[in-house]
Amino acid sequence: MSVILARLGEIGVRRFMREYWQRRPVLIRAAFPDFAPPVGRRRMFELAASADVESRLIVRHGARWSLRHGPIPRRSLPPLAQARWTLLVQGLDQADAGAHELLARFRFVPDARLDDLMASFATDGGGVPAHVDNYDVFLLQAYGRRRWRISRQRDQRLQPGMPLKLLADFRPTREWVLEPGDMLYLPPGVAHEGVAVGECIGYSIGFRTPTWQELHDPWLARFAERSRLDGRYADPGQRVTAHPGEIPDAMVRQTHAALSRVRPTRAHTERFLLEHLSEPKASVVFQRPQHPPASAMFVRAARRRGVILDARSRMLYGRLGVALNGELFEVAAGLRPVLHTLADRRSLDGDSIARAPAALAPLLHDWLVAGWLHFGGETAP
Ligand code: SIN
Ligand code: CO
Repeated sequence: MSVILARLGEIGVRRFMREYWQRRPVLIRAAFPDFAPPVGRRRMFELAASADVESRLIVRHGARWSLRHGPIPRRSLPPLAQARWTLLVQGLDQADAGAHELLARFRFVPDARLDDLMASFATDGGGVPAHVDNYDVFLLQAYGRRRWRISRQRDQRLQPGMPLKLLADFRPTREWVLEPGDMLYLPPGVAHEGVAVGECIGYSIGFRTPTWQELHDPWLARFAERSRLDGRYADPGQRVTAHPGEIPDAMVRQTHAALSRVRPTRAHTERFLLEHLSEPKASVVFQRPQHPPASAMFVRAARRRGVILDARSRMLYGRLGVALNGELFEVAAGLRPVLHTLADRRSLDGDSIARAPAALAPLLHDWLVAGWLHFGGETAP
């Protein structure tokens, strides 16, 4: 079990959240002293070749850049001796148990904000050219060295005709060379560019900050699906009209008043956030067990071994209930504490399962059959 970080170098996490989070960049030297990166070059190349993993290859050709989306077979990668290329592998936490544990160390931030752990391999001079992200990000140096330059510039115009969103006029004001175990935190909106100094690997631990518009569209769609209105239009007061083409003002007023009676509530918004933010990424496929145990056998095994969430599962809870992988479960009050423990710890020991109300076992059994959790002691994923 990985332990949630209490400190980022010299800075305690409480102070970090108060003074830096969402506010200003900070460089943390030796955030992970003697860092042993879980994923290296060979494993990254393997993952990039897989259709289940999102990856990108960015190659610099003079003043231009080319971008290729994965899967990228090993033979399609440029030679290691060629400078200025970079390979990005997204969702490493879902593909590798060690990366999943590393990401778990950042759970001093709510899971609802979490995006994923990305790794980037670069040959000398490679990297993603200057850009701005809508993410809070911890840039953790895994192997080798990388020069990061940043700027809080207002001018965020992009270079036209590029396959990537690159800043047209990057004017860096600060720079650092990161060594293994060093980490740079950037809030959203800070322009940045990381250039490899020799071959290197960096990990980005990203936390999403959706725009209101991005949330609005699915929020409204769910609202439309669920809201119900009684009654129908009526106009017993309608007089003979001399302007049959004109929409009656009373019709507009009456309709507006009736339709405006349905309003989204806090509960609607909470339900939406629980479902939406626990939705796995589109590329995620859960592996269902081939021979799932029948329920009586499941209960015996779960009480002995406990259960652990699959690395790809996203679990959140709120006042309305518990959401797992996009589905909300409005469970009885007595079940909540144990399910909150499962969400917070991502596992439950056998004793907690044995002590919990009987209604827990069928839920856990369904989730095991769906591939959303496994018995304890098994590796996840
Ligand atoms: C990288 O690590 O190469 C890119 C990460 C970023 O700029 O967000
Ligand atoms: Co970036």
